[in-house]
Amino acid sequence: MRKNIVAGNWKMNANANAASELIKNLKKSDFSETTEVIIAPSYTNLAIANELITGSSIELSSQNMHESDRGAFTGEVSAEMLKSVGVTYVILGHSERRAIYKESSELLKSKVDQALKNDLKPIFCVGEELKDRKDENHFKVVKNQLSESLFHLSSEQMKNIVLAYEPVWAIGTGETASPEQAQEMHAYIRKLLSDQFSSEIANGISILYGGSVKPGNAKDIFANKDVDGGLIGGAALKAEDFTAIINSFE
Ligand code: G3P
Repeated sequence: MRKNIVAGNWKMNANANAASELIKNLKKSDFSETTEVIIAPSYTNLAIANELITGSSIELSSQNMHESDRGAFTGEVSAEMLKSVGVTYVILGHSERRAIYKESSELLKSKVDQALKNDLKPIFCVGEELKDRKDENHFKVVKNQLSESLFHLSSEQMKNIVLAYEPVWAIGTGETASPEQAQEMHAYIRKLLSDQFSSEIANGISILYGGSVKPGNAKDIFANKDVDGGLIGGAALKAEDFTAIINSFE
């Protein structure tokens, strides 16, 4: 169901003490009641995060997961393990997983299926590299990422997906996409969903923007009709900045 969402992707940051401190500070913050707030700590911090968010409106996400139920996959974490520590969302297809760990669309398709099989809600990331945009291939890149990993789903399954458009050139660079660039791609994504599934499905899915969202630019980005919130990296590691972003909807 479409709603305003602000999710914090903590990436590989915060040991147990820092994670506890950050969550305790977030719980003291005054959040907008109409925005869903999600935090995605590293695997080692999920159990303590689950304890600390109990009684709050904060939802818990992981940053990845394995596509199999269980087995000889040293170093990996399964959907069942994630659910056992209160995880309800899972970030999949982040550009860092695609670029650094070579996660293919095919593998991500399997991870999406495994997440849905286990009643986890994927936050599925798409986004182009700077070269793609300079070559005006950015729409084609995003369309392929969506179609190769999501377009096999039924309409019912698609309702459980949250999308995140994260232009790679904006991640961690301070080079935020302009509100117009964000709106243009979000509208394009929503049109693709409408063509593939239905306008009802397309209009029922939250599409988040990610890439250097800060308290100073969140309001202008979130004001766009096809932007339903943000997937936040660096600014999610400071309770006051993350809270300011959560409260940036008009
Ligand atoms: O997943 C969110 C992340 O990629 C954005 O990072 O630091 O540019 O907000 P940042």
